[in-house]
Amino acid sequence: MRYPITPIYCLPSLLQGLSTRLIESHYENNYGGALRRLNAISEKLESLDFAKTPPYVVNGLKRDELTALNSTLLHELYFASLGGAAANTARGNFCDAKPPAGFADVFARDFQSADRWHDEFVAMANGLAGGSGWVLLVYVPRDGRLINQYASDHSQAVAGGIPILALDMYEHAYHIDFGSNAKAYIDAFMRNVDWKAVQGRYEDAAKVEPPRPLVQPEFGAVEGVGPDEVKAMIDAGRPLQIIDARPRHFVSRQQDIMEGAQWRDPDRVQDWSAELSKSEPVVVFCAYGFHVGCKTAIALKDAGFDAKYMKGGHSAWKAIGGATKMVGAGS
Ligand SMILES: [Fe+2]
Repeated sequence: MRYPITPIYCLPSLLQGLSTRLIESHYENNYGGALRRLNAISEKLESLDFAKTPPYVVNGLKRDELTALNSTLLHELYFASLGGAAANTARGNFCDAKPPAGFADVFARDFQSADRWHDEFVAMANGLAGGSGWVLLVYVPRDGRLINQYASDHSQAVAGGIPILALDMYEHAYHIDFGSNAKAYIDAFMRNVDWKAVQGRYEDAAKVEPPRPLVQPEFGAVEGVGPDEVKAMIDAGRPLQIIDARPRHFVSRQQDIMEGAQWRDPDRVQDWSAELSKSEPVVVFCAYGFHVGCKTAIALKDAGFDAKYMKGGHSAWKAIGGATKMVGAGS
């Protein structure tokens, strides 16, 4: 495919403390260069017979494609991040070059405060002074929150993340105006951030759904708790009856068991459920949190127990670093 060019978005002459010469050079030579490389690589890839092309050639081209594509995308976001007070005033929009009041709540949610976000973002940028890379503000749909991240060599990205603000810390972004004074460039960039545009991108990004969770429709009525919640209950000293209901062949194959759990045969719930107290909650789990744990939880609930299954089962418990002991070691 041929990647189209994106207009510069901001009017360079309206930026404060960043010269038109700098912005034009950056857009035409560096953004334009990345786009031209991307299209040349794309054309080359489309011409290849992959079955007859040495793997190292494909490897190199695909890596170069990733670098050029991300450089193109991040430069487009960089220019779209600029506009600042003067540009917004010219458009007749409110702007004080700071996050709008409603948007500041989002920064408070994810960074404790807008000021603290600003300090981290700027500290990260200063950390790249004399080096190179990007500082990005990224929305992560999985967690429904913003984070600041570095992107070195154009190609580091949070999987599934949506960048909404980009600060270019490659020297070509500032040396014409600032020489090696990266700090002055960072200050100028921050004064020119078009917060109205950033907020618009955030609002779009926040509509993206997180990855679809594991759904087990047949057990939809069974209440589950995550291993983190179980650990928090244990750490808080809450009374909890923990049942490892992995099928017998799992337990004989894997020699460890969750600390504090009792193994009970899921095929014989009726035989051992009378040992449990109905006045304390029960958490039951199997190997991965699928059928066996859910079915056992249902059987216990039907018998009148306050029972839930642990999502992700024994493996999820181990994956969060939960304590285990060897089977047969101690009580
Ligand atoms: Fe750049």
